[in-house]
Amino acid sequence: MAKSPPIIYLNNAATTWPKPPEVLEAARQSLALPVFGSGRTTGSQGEDYITLAREALAGLLAADPPEHIVFTQNATDSLNLLIQGFLAGNKAGCHVITTELDHNSVLRPLHEFERQGRIRLTVLPFEDGAVSPGVVEAALTPDTRLMVTAHGSNVLGSVQDIHRIGEVLHDHGIFFIVDGAQTAGHIPIDLKNLPVDAYAFTGHKGLFGIPGTGGFYLRDPESVAPVRYGGTGTDSFSLYQPREMPERFETGTHNYPGLAALAAGADFVASIGITAIAEKAERQTAFLIRELKSESNITIYNESPSLPIVSFNIRGLENDDVGFILARAYGVIARTGLHCAPLVHKAIDEGTGCVRLSLSWFTTDEECRTAARAVKEIAQNANSSVGSS
Ligand SMILES: Cc1ncc(COP(=O)(O)O)c(C=O)c1O
Repeated sequence: MAKSPPIIYLNNAATTWPKPPEVLEAARQSLALPVFGSGRTTGSQGEDYITLAREALAGLLAADPPEHIVFTQNATDSLNLLIQGFLAGNKAGCHVITTELDHNSVLRPLHEFERQGRIRLTVLPFEDGAVSPGVVEAALTPDTRLMVTAHGSNVLGSVQDIHRIGEVLHDHGIFFIVDGAQTAGHIPIDLKNLPVDAYAFTGHKGLFGIPGTGGFYLRDPESVAPVRYGGTGTDSFSLYQPREMPERFETGTHNYPGLAALAAGADFVASIGITAIAEKAERQTAFLIRELKSESNITIYNESPSLPIVSFNIRGLENDDVGFILARAYGVIARTGLHCAPLVHKAIDEGTGCVRLSLSWFTTDEECRTAARAVKEIAQNANSSVGSS
């Protein structure tokens, strides 16, 4: 039987793999000892994993105070809580802005609110991987109350200028929620100095945590109403949700093995340094793009991404088929299809989807060389079969 090639995992924008050994060990340790502690029984013997995770995230994102970091199940959960909580109350019929760059975790909650007649929605087009602050400003109406958009695109690997967009929005008193699922752990983020009101992150991508963890930073707790209620282990005689952070939003038992892992993942990222991570990613991504560009039948959708994401198609082949050949013949695990960002695909590939290679700190130069060789060979074979038909 033919030996399978070793796996070259280039689907890190979906979820990073491998995880650092420290992350696996932290999850194991957190479950190895009985759960007990004063107050809420979600800490394990001796270690308060939740506080460790909160402080690690606050440090990495320059978020102050740490209690304004709230833990959730993932970025999608964070975005739902923030959007629903912000729109709760006296905002019926208001105008909300998002963009065609956005992921379904932003588009679907907002479209659902629009369908229910609770908001008016504008979806802005992008150019060169981002929506310009001028386009945002031109879309504002007197009743615009909220903008929600991705910091980084999971298809194009582009990063939006959320600083300038935030300034425009704040000049008009508009609330700004940023989806940082693709940027936390990849590029420096300084929430103390960014004009954003809330920033959602996920644990299992660039932060190297395990799936099922994430959270958000919220500058002004009173700006968003809680939409979940329940036990917090604090102020238990009160039959109402505490107003304090983070109990205002964190209800029920925490995913403490996940948070132990997330704390270890964030510490791992900090120990390497975001700058070193970003520099290596930039070098390897540039290499892949240079290589793929040498085949004339490969279309690359962003030739200068700011994140380690390379999306492409090979003329004459379906993206699913390219992904299949990459995996079966070369062991290269890519992601194919629509990547949960349907409006990006409408804009770049007529909605057919594309192949995405995405890297992490653990991706080696040798893996990049093998992946580039593999894609080029597939493209050359596609070219010769088109030529011979
Ligand atoms: C831009 C963007 N937003 C949101 C998400 C959703 O993240 P999660 O799976 O943590 O909910 C993703 C993940 O694919 C993403 O790429």
